[in-house]
Amino acid sequence: MTIQIILGSDHGGYELKEGLIETLSQNKALSIDDMGTFSSESVDYPDIADIVAQKVLAENVIGILCCGTGIGISIRANRHKGIRAAVVFNKFTAEMAKKHNNANILCLGGRTTSTEHALEYVNTWLKNDFEGDRHLRRIKKLDA
Ligand code: RB5
Repeated sequence: MTIQIILGSDHGGYELKEGLIETLSQNKALSIDDMGTFSSESVDYPDIADIVAQKVLAENVIGILCCGTGIGISIRANRHKGIRAAVVFNKFTAEMAKKHNNANILCLGGRTTSTEHALEYVNTWLKNDFEGDRHLRRIKKLDA
């Protein structure tokens, strides 16, 4: 079974998104959907966050969003009920984003994180499992 991942970025995360796509699209276990932006021309990150968040919810899949820091784009994505977008900045936060928060969107900063490190965080997030139990009770409260 392939894992579908929806990607999006603003200009600040554009190069990082492109770098991630280059590597992730070689992985046959993954199916990659690129929702833009498609150049380094300036765009507004809330617009991209909306497109990716809506698709993640509609298709019940996961996403990756990149902006300069990962912050702005995560704030907007989290305005969508059902989205748990987590900015991660090391392997531990990537692991916890899945185990404790069951993040369905991973947010990364193109101006803070190298492509090499970002790939490590993405792979860490993908390979871990949500622990459920008390964490399920807590994430249910996020949307209550
Ligand atoms: C764009 O310059 C920048 O503000 C944006 O990419 C992001 O870092 C916002 O949080």
